Amino acid sequence: MKEAGPIGIFDSGYGGLTVFREIAKVLPQYDYLYLGDNARVPYGTRSFETVYRYTWECVQHLFSMGCRLVILACNTASAKALRSIQQNDLTQLPDLRRVLGVIRPTAELVGEYSKTRRVGILGTQGTVASQSYIIEIEKFFPDIKVEQEACPMWVPLVENNEFDSPGADYFIRKNLDSLLQKSPDIDTLVLACTHYPLLINKIRQFVSADITLISQGELVAESLYDYLQRHPEIEILCSKNGDAEFYTTESTDGFNQKAKVFLGQEVFSKHLAI
Ligand code: DGL
Repeated sequence: MKEAGPIGIFDSGYGGLTVFREIAKVLPQYDYLYLGDNARVPYGTRSFETVYRYTWECVQHLFSMGCRLVILACNTASAKALRSIQQNDLTQLPDLRRVLGVIRPTAELVGEYSKTRRVGILGTQGTVASQSYIIEIEKFFPDIKVEQEACPMWVPLVENNEFDSPGADYFIRKNLDSLLQKSPDIDTLVLACTHYPLLINKIRQFVSADITLISQGELVAESLYDYLQRHPEIEILCSKNGDAEFYTTESTDGFNQKAKVFLGQEVFSKHLAI
């Protein structure tokens, strides 16, 4: 008898909570285990090798805590580690486990939003350098031209609770202006980092009302719903008591305080030593 376990949700920090929130709305019946690698955030400025090593280490922890399905709710990890994990690591495991990312579900749907066929990607340096969005969007919508902008200050602003401060305005404007200058016809902006939904009100202030802003949480939740319908062999391995547990590699007090901002509810996290 194969044992079912919670669905693992992984991020380098708090950003994945924006994805967890939407997934839990659409699929409340499942159990979830969230892991934030807050001790080593940000991942966005780190090399491929390091992001892969950190991500795989965290995924293995989630597996050892009973998860059979893990969502990398982090674009940087999805861009830099997912392929190696799927193609090399998972194939060596004795039992059935799956790891999914957030880039493909976003790329699959982005074409439904853009009329001008010009899409802007806002992401970490790592996500932008990987060109993952350009490659994935091209597969589904070859007529779309993608422009990208790396926003290295945005994750630290969110992680340090400065996302709503006047100081944040400078960096947000700077990156938005730079992206929109690359193509003034952009009508769709993808918040291609799971931390960025916390900046959405600020971003909205600085771009024209005609531009659609895409947060990934809902798209990823919709895609996970479909995935579980199409893969009953995985669905049966996901336990269903409607529980959620939270782990952080950093201090639990800090995590609980910030997670409350992301989720709008009290969180009692546990520490995971790595
Ligand atoms: N939430 C991660 C992402 O979606 C943040 C990356 C970081 O740690 O820099 O890319």
